[in-house]
Amino acid sequence: MKKISILFVCLGNICRSPIAEGVFRKKAEAANLNNSIEIDSAGTAAWHAGNPPDTRMIEAAKERGYDITNLRARQVNTNDFSKFDYILAMDDENLMDLEDVSPEGTAANLKLFLDYANGAKEREVPDPYFGGADGFFHVIELVESASDGLIKEILSENQS
Ligand code: 4NP
Repeated sequence: MKKISILFVCLGNICRSPIAEGVFRKKAEAANLNNSIEIDSAGTAAWHAGNPPDTRMIEAAKERGYDITNLRARQVNTNDFSKFDYILAMDDENLMDLEDVSPEGTAANLKLFLDYANGAKEREVPDPYFGGADGFFHVIELVESASDGLIKEILSENQS
């Protein structure tokens, strides 16, 4: 199977996209895809570059069985558009910001991550930063659902 690279993108790269990376990595491993997939995450803003994920997301992730403590935030850069096959935004604003900075002729598949969440009522992963603990668990549920959908698509596209 050809190597597939996926970049998850939110605003700060400390809440939504790190948990998307952590959840997707665990599910990819469970589907035996870890040798075929490269996963990373980034933020459209540089405010938190170099920082670990938000402690509230680290704690919520731990409760759900995901370890994201080793991740460090970084900002999206122009090389990402040629490096990654999929660039998956958490919300419409992230998607618009990505489209604004994407070099002409970018081949990457630029989409909302929840496009892969079958049956989800929401289109966007809501920003939990200014809300309570529930918001963090809600984000985890949404990214779990979208990760399942994306893994299904990758497996069906790579059937021999
Ligand atoms: P994220 O959440 O985009 O999911 O990482 C946010 C993190 C930080 C801020 C906003 C959203 N902030 O305003 O610093």
